[in-house]
Amino acid sequence: MNDEGRFGQYGGSFIPEILYSSQQQLLRAYREAMADSNFVNLVRSEMQHFSGRPTPLTFCANLTRQLGGAQIFLKREDLNHSGAHKMNNVIGQGLLAKRMGKPRVIAETGAGQHGVASALVSARLGLDCTVYMGAHDIERQYPNVFWMKQLGAKVIPVTTGAATLKDALDEALRDWSSSYEDTHYLIGTSCGCAPYPEMVAGFQSVIGEEVKDQSLEQFNKYPDRIYACVGGGSNACGIFLPFVNESSELIGVEAGGRGDAPGDHAMRFNTDQARFGIAQGFATKFLQDEQGQLLPTHSISAGLDYVGVSPILADLEENGKVRMTSASDDEVMEAFTLLTRYEGIIPALESSHAVAGGLREAATMNPEESIVISVSGRGDKDIFNIAKALNDKPFNAFLETYLKQSEVA
Ligand SMILES: Cc1ncc(COP(=O)(O)O)c(C=O)c1O
Repeated sequence: MNDEGRFGQYGGSFIPEILYSSQQQLLRAYREAMADSNFVNLVRSEMQHFSGRPTPLTFCANLTRQLGGAQIFLKREDLNHSGAHKMNNVIGQGLLAKRMGKPRVIAETGAGQHGVASALVSARLGLDCTVYMGAHDIERQYPNVFWMKQLGAKVIPVTTGAATLKDALDEALRDWSSSYEDTHYLIGTSCGCAPYPEMVAGFQSVIGEEVKDQSLEQFNKYPDRIYACVGGGSNACGIFLPFVNESSELIGVEAGGRGDAPGDHAMRFNTDQARFGIAQGFATKFLQDEQGQLLPTHSISAGLDYVGVSPILADLEENGKVRMTSASDDEVMEAFTLLTRYEGIIPALESSHAVAGGLREAATMNPEESIVISVSGRGDKDIFNIAKALNDKPFNAFLETYLKQSEVA
């Protein structure tokens, strides 16, 4: 990254004049904090004692045997407190907000995992927390909304646009423009103006650092391939960056959705519907039409339908350091079922994209090779969507009965 937060032609800072001094303050505060060993140790300590790090690297004996190819390992970010990798970044930024003397944080959320992590850390650190969430995502992820509220956060539904993550981000930026003096904007992924992409990727890099130690310990070399799902790109940056100069191949798996038509997927790579653009404070590859209007997106998972992508990943892909592929909604459900049935691990629908990409390729590799798949989160939050996708009639009947009983009570 250069001083303006550029990664090749991507990244940078394209923000309204009014936010300039706040953004500069954040940049300075982040650099100073990371040079202060007390701060770095505090972040590590919270990751260990509050979130439960290090997360395990789990060998999948049954699927490895079943597929007959590469040895399959999972990096278990689902075992973080709050059930997803989002916690790593929120611990870092929450402590930074405290250090900057900001009593309030705002956050945007898609799947709700970043919102829950922000609410949890705010409760612990005594910060006032407001979460912006698209109304469509609220419908898909209501359990997470419920927990955010229990934790004392204010959840503001966003009804503009497609009412998903991009729109929540717009609203959060609007809030920050008038509240920056006492508010830290706690962005949940490796996107946005500098220093957010670098900062979020930095806090998430603990994932890849741990994989380095664990893979040497468990199979005496670094993995041949590493897979991560790519929404905004934070779990992918986190597991990939420590390996960028190693021989491991790094593979991002995007949301292939229900087809290639505009609005049916969220692939920012391997499609002519995405190209260089500047929006939401930074430059990256955005899905857009000929006039440059951002396109609608679709994914079975609420956390992968962002219209842009981390400028770090856009640059790495352009330089051949990361390969991008995708998994369709149907492949994702198949991968979800395989991991659940054969290994007793229930992945989030976002993470099931990485599982789909990894299992597809593991079968074509040889048994001397090893792969690591980032299980970025656990599937509990997706219970309603999964029951719907599997057309689980008993579950729907249970919901109807439960609702009727609640009405009577
Ligand atoms: C479990 C899980 N994995 C992955 C993502 C995608 O985010 P990112 O690409 O920043 O890792 C999300 C987003 O909400 C998520 O909840």
